[in-house]
Amino acid sequence: MNQPKRYTVTSALPYANGPLHIGHLAGAYLNADIYVRYLRLKGEDVVFVCGSDEHGAAITLRAKKEGCTPQEIIDKYHFQIKDSFEKLGVSFDIYHRTSSALHHQTAQEFFLTCLENGAFEVRESEQFYDEEYNQFLADRYITGTCPKCNYDKAYGDQCENCGSSLNPTDLGNPISTLSGKSPILKSTKHWYLPLDQYENWLKDWIVEGKKGSWKTNVYGQCKSWIDGGLHARAMTRDLDWGVKVPLEEADGKVLYVWLDAPIGYISATKQWALDNGKDWELYWKNEETKLVHFIGKDNIVFHCITFPSLLKANGEYILPDDVPANEFMNLQGDKISTSRNWAVWVHEYVDEFPDKVDELRYTLIANMPETKDAEFTWEDYQARVNNELVATLGNLENRVVVLINKYWEGVLPEVDASILTEEDKELLHNIMLAKANIGNAIEEYKFREALNALMDLARKGNKYLGDNEPWKLIKQDEAAAKRILYISAQVVASFATLAQPFLPFTAEKIKVKMNLSDRNWLEDTDWISGGSQIEKGALLFQKIEDSLVEGQVKRLEANKSIVQKPIEKYTPMKPEITFDDFTKLDIRTGMIVAAQKIPKADKLLNLTVDLGFEMRTIVSGIAEHFKEEEVIGKKVAVVINLAPRKLRGVESQGMILMAEDMDGKLGFVANSEMASGMVIR
Ligand code: 2FM
Ligand code: ZN
Repeated sequence: MNQPKRYTVTSALPYANGPLHIGHLAGAYLNADIYVRYLRLKGEDVVFVCGSDEHGAAITLRAKKEGCTPQEIIDKYHFQIKDSFEKLGVSFDIYHRTSSALHHQTAQEFFLTCLENGAFEVRESEQFYDEEYNQFLADRYITGTCPKCNYDKAYGDQCENCGSSLNPTDLGNPISTLSGKSPILKSTKHWYLPLDQYENWLKDWIVEGKKGSWKTNVYGQCKSWIDGGLHARAMTRDLDWGVKVPLEEADGKVLYVWLDAPIGYISATKQWALDNGKDWELYWKNEETKLVHFIGKDNIVFHCITFPSLLKANGEYILPDDVPANEFMNLQGDKISTSRNWAVWVHEYVDEFPDKVDELRYTLIANMPETKDAEFTWEDYQARVNNELVATLGNLENRVVVLINKYWEGVLPEVDASILTEEDKELLHNIMLAKANIGNAIEEYKFREALNALMDLARKGNKYLGDNEPWKLIKQDEAAAKRILYISAQVVASFATLAQPFLPFTAEKIKVKMNLSDRNWLEDTDWISGGSQIEKGALLFQKIEDSLVEGQVKRLEANKSIVQKPIEKYTPMKPEITFDDFTKLDIRTGMIVAAQKIPKADKLLNLTVDLGFEMRTIVSGIAEHFKEEEVIGKKVAVVINLAPRKLRGVESQGMILMAEDMDGKLGFVANSEMASGMVIR
């Protein structure tokens, strides 16, 4: 393609079934945001679209788990996710929803055009059906053994262990997640996209056409799929949640979520165009538009193989120019996992640290998983903020602002170009060089490299100021001091433009402090002229204390055990008892008033429990879970008619009831409002 006239940039539509975490940000949003902000600074015509993916089994499963309707789930998470993106400075032109009427209409029209073009094959086939729930099972509702890697919890559409894309019937020993039983096979009719017929075209377009231009991780995955042979995939599903298949004969069927979701990019663009008086078709149907999809690696097959084949089948649309997918971001040495609650949640971060958004952006960009999986740790976050943002960029900016205010009342000195030294000129030249390097790296989707080029400039500026010590020169050679501050101020001012794609909040602060007008990336210089007023103000960045890191790591560990794991199926652990058996227990409320360790018994605590009418000594096996001081004052439920027994020489006169979660963590069982001694029955 020659120089494109306009850009359509998309970020994967997040499922509105849970909060956003930092892995999402590093995968498909911050990179897209940098790219788009840069293009806008260059004055390009660009639309950046995203929205919530609100259909499919991801949503219905979550609703089932939370005991509410799919609509309640998508409403809750759509607004939460939208808010997280806004607070993080991800600058979508629109954040749309696939539940909107416009989307449903767009997806149905798209389907019908493909149908008219003869793109689908209607096939009767056997699909898994849950007899207890009387419904066909969406791929995600079936788990079983992956035929490729033998992982026994693979889903019907994809194995999360090896990443293979699957059909439910590929699974060994399939189980319905609804009833926990083996499903039966039952005949049903669906509309298939015969991907095998696109193989030759995909070979030309990707294997030949994108070699060397698409990222190797993306190209490699596509090539291995195409080389492995493609098969027809059903584009409809038997489900009651989604975009209805717009055909009378397809009652009770919806479009496959991976057909409907990427069309969400198109419907989002339509809504944006309606809201802004634009022509959406220019952004999707004009050959001079460059379409770029930012996604995570688990979405590659859908964006590089399925969706382009559908776009081609439809016939009216341009194809993606690039799909710069990222790999995954791990957290503190482990995979990010929603079900294990091992994540840094964006809504929590922005609530807790509303003035540290760029610090998070910076750390995630610096560690972006561009070519392989990468890792976020709170220790690295601290080191990067303290050693790079505070000690380099913040230090340079602060010294420039403070010195100019101290010596020249906040007015940047005027300096005649004729007195500039070689060193000065070189630093100015470095600003232009950084601009070129950053731009080139961004255009090649090398965001870490781009950030490094930016910080390299800050390091050079900081070193220049430190080496030249204008605070010492001021007494003997004020002209030299002025010159040095003037040059240093140029570096800082250039950050208002150059840092904007990465650290938009910081760039804005610099702009305000230096009274700079909006800059364009293409402007030859980012000079700030002598005579400009430079305001003192808050520091750009604050040091991250050890306590913050410790607190966050502790919280991660603690929350990990309050996992919202699905409740295991009920299997009786003990034989049935009669009501009379149960009433034999005398259970009372009580409060622990004293606790001490029992020598040479790691697990036991000697507790004194106030039952209101008397004190009891109870030996309890909780010492590995609680310290003595933690349990004092705790309300408890106590079985008080248990025959006394001696444990490590101490007579225990009852038993405290505890709940134990799946990770073996213990918690007290009691009602805190009840006085001690009350009967529990
Ligand atoms: O994997 C996901 O989270 C999907 N919701 C991504 C959809 S991207 C696009 F197709 F909309
Ligand atoms: Zn597998």
